[in-house]
Amino acid sequence: MSDPTPITEQAVAEAVDAALAAISAAGDSTALRAARTEHTAEQSPLAKLNAAIRDLPGDQKAAAGKLVGQARGRVNQALAAQEGVVLAAEEQARLAAESVDVTAVPSRRRAGARHPLSLLTEAMGDVFTGMGWEIAEGPELEHEWFNFDALNFDEDHPARAMQDTFFVEPVERHLVLRTHTSPVQIRSLLSRPLPLYVVAPGRVYRTDELDATHTPVFQQIEGIAIDKGLTMAHLRGTLEHLARSMFGEGAQIRLRPNFFPFTEPSAEMDVWQPNAKGGARWVEWGGCGMVNRNVLRAAGIDPEEYQGFAFGMGIERTLQFRNDMNDMRDMVEGDVRFSQQFGMVV
Ligand code: FA5
Ligand code: MG
Repeated sequence: MSDPTPITEQAVAEAVDAALAAISAAGDSTALRAARTEHTAEQSPLAKLNAAIRDLPGDQKAAAGKLVGQARGRVNQALAAQEGVVLAAEEQARLAAESVDVTAVPSRRRAGARHPLSLLTEAMGDVFTGMGWEIAEGPELEHEWFNFDALNFDEDHPARAMQDTFFVEPVERHLVLRTHTSPVQIRSLLSRPLPLYVVAPGRVYRTDELDATHTPVFQQIEGIAIDKGLTMAHLRGTLEHLARSMFGEGAQIRLRPNFFPFTEPSAEMDVWQPNAKGGARWVEWGGCGMVNRNVLRAAGIDPEEYQGFAFGMGIERTLQFRNDMNDMRDMVEGDVRFSQQFGMVV
């Protein structure tokens, strides 16, 4: 057994001073726990002094007990006080770390926007569904027969070269990227009962160079109506209604005689563009005409009984006219700022 620690006032004071110094230096609960262990637990100087009381002669026990007891009381009080300080500081730090600055400028994730061409395609379709027409679709990879032959383009007819076509290999399969939406006329004639009123918006492809008014991949909206007694007047009325829906009540269109093998008579349709680049003028919007009797006959329809009209407009051109946009290239470059400016944020 080791010698009992002599219980002197000095020894007690030293133990207390050391404990108080350690306690007040403890800046967090981990340090405070260490100080508590070092200065109050079993092997601490104060615990040893306390244990030594046992071995004192009986008449000294009371005084020594009081001395050591008061010392331990002071240390425990200091521990409790410092614990309050440390826990409060730690709580404060945690709240500060969790706090949210409700006045801070948020870093927003950029929202996308639907492309204005998609929105416009829907809006154009709505003009027709509002009149009871149906919406049809056809494949973009199309058989040459639908794209040309069934539309009365003769094998050697120069009209076949009118549109610069992407032919798809192997050529024996006679597949092309459709050059217009007019093949959907044939698909509709072959699959739908009469009378029929159908529009077909969709993507088409031509070997055109990208410039301010052309792109090699663009969209058209095709229309075909077959009924008894349809005339050019119905065609013109329909186109005027579409033009007014797209460009406002004051919109003006003009039909110029033209040639398409699948319509007879045929016309090209212009829209008056008061804000066109280089001054107000008529600008081509699409092609149209009365469905050629040969096309009707090829679809098994008697041209004496049924007549029809058809039209096909460029959707990019429509957007261009609608928003006074001089350069079509902006529409196809995919810059989200363009969509956000014209489109609907989703
Ligand atoms: C046709 O494509 C015919 N199928 C239209 C038609 C349908 C006539 C039904 C009769 C009956 P055209 O090649 O002119 O016609 O093209 C029609 C419209 O598509 C043009 O007036 C123009 O608005 C648009 N367009 C044509 N080429 C491009 C292009 N490279 N980029 C953007 N728009 C184009
Ligand atoms: Mg044309």
